[in-house]
Amino acid sequence: MLKLFIPSVLLLVSCSAVPLQNNVEPFIKNGELAEVGQFPYQAGLNISFGGNLTTWCGGTLISHYWIITAAHCMDSAESVTVYLGAINIRDETEPGQQRIMVEKSGIIVHSNYTASTVTNDISLIRLPIFVAFTKHIRAASLPRRLNGSFPTYDSVLASASGWGRDSDASDTVSPVLRYVEMPVMPNAVCRMYWSGAVSEKMICMSTASGKSTCHGDSGGPLVYREGSISYLIGSTSFGTTMGCQVGFPAVFTRISSYLDWILNHVIS
Ligand SMILES: *[C@@H]1O[C@H](CO)[C@@H](O)[C@H](O)[C@H]1NC(C)=O
Ligand SMILES: *[C@@H]1O[C@H](CO)[C@@H](O)[C@H](O)[C@H]1NC(C)=O
Ligand SMILES: *[C@@H]1O[C@H](CO)[C@@H](O)[C@H](O)[C@H]1NC(C)=O
Ligand SMILES: *[C@@H]1O[C@H](CO)[C@@H](O)[C@H](O)[C@H]1NC(C)=O
Repeated sequence: MLKLFIPSVLLLVSCSAVPLQNNVEPFIKNGELAEVGQFPYQAGLNISFGGNLTTWCGGTLISHYWIITAAHCMDSAESVTVYLGAINIRDETEPGQQRIMVEKSGIIVHSNYTASTVTNDISLIRLPIFVAFTKHIRAASLPRRLNGSFPTYDSVLASASGWGRDSDASDTVSPVLRYVEMPVMPNAVCRMYWSGAVSEKMICMSTASGKSTCHGDSGGPLVYREGSISYLIGSTSFGTTMGCQVGFPAVFTRISSYLDWILNHVIS
């Protein structure tokens, strides 16, 4: 019955759509412009690999000290400059914007991260200073259990935000923060596109609906808002260049699957 929602061409494509790193191209295309204070948990990451090599990723502030992002962003990074409270990353004088340099020792990549399958695609960054919350900077909440288990978040509306680069060249990053709001796709449906590449430790967002909007920046937040609480339910992991045109779902690391790992590091 679920097949009814999916054009048959996509089922054919899904057989070969294993997400290798060079297929991985997360970005937001033509998303809505974010307003000041709308995504106070959003972090921008200018990641340095030594020499002149830098790349841009997103992340999410989860406390006064910690950022969650993707392992594929931080793997082999030498250092990272974390942007907080930013809308326009080209404007260092933007009110509320803060930039914090973090050395390699503050970067924790999941020890079972596997690049070839993009599994366990999660990492943590520990800020060297306490970051005070302001109207521009505020942590997102981690998912909570309801009646003993974590919600799947199937079909809830969630927003992915980021500066959306359209290639690996860092100078093509959008200067201003953008977002897309789309429903969470149940994993069973997502697997019809991605087959075995999508596990229960991942969460998918629909990209259908004819918009050219697509994925958030790598490592950036997928957030479900309930009242005034913003729950971080995903961290942008992978998609495909086909995604924006044919509705391939964007795939995120499912945060509730990594809470023990997160809390082990954050508390110790
Ligand atoms: C990241 O930092 C490098 C080195 O300072 C800079 O050249 C580059 O423009 C920065 N990237 C972004 C997206 O701001
Ligand atoms: C950095 O870039 C400049 C200009 O392209 C180049 O001259 C220099 O050798 C580069 N440095 C390193 C360490 O790659
Ligand atoms: C990594 O995988 C091994 C083998 O499955 C497992 O024993 C270990 O607990 C995993 N590490 C983490 C941090 O999940
Ligand atoms: C939790 O369990 C109670 C009792 O079974 C039920 O009434 C309630 O609807 C459940 N809440 C949720 C959010 O599932």
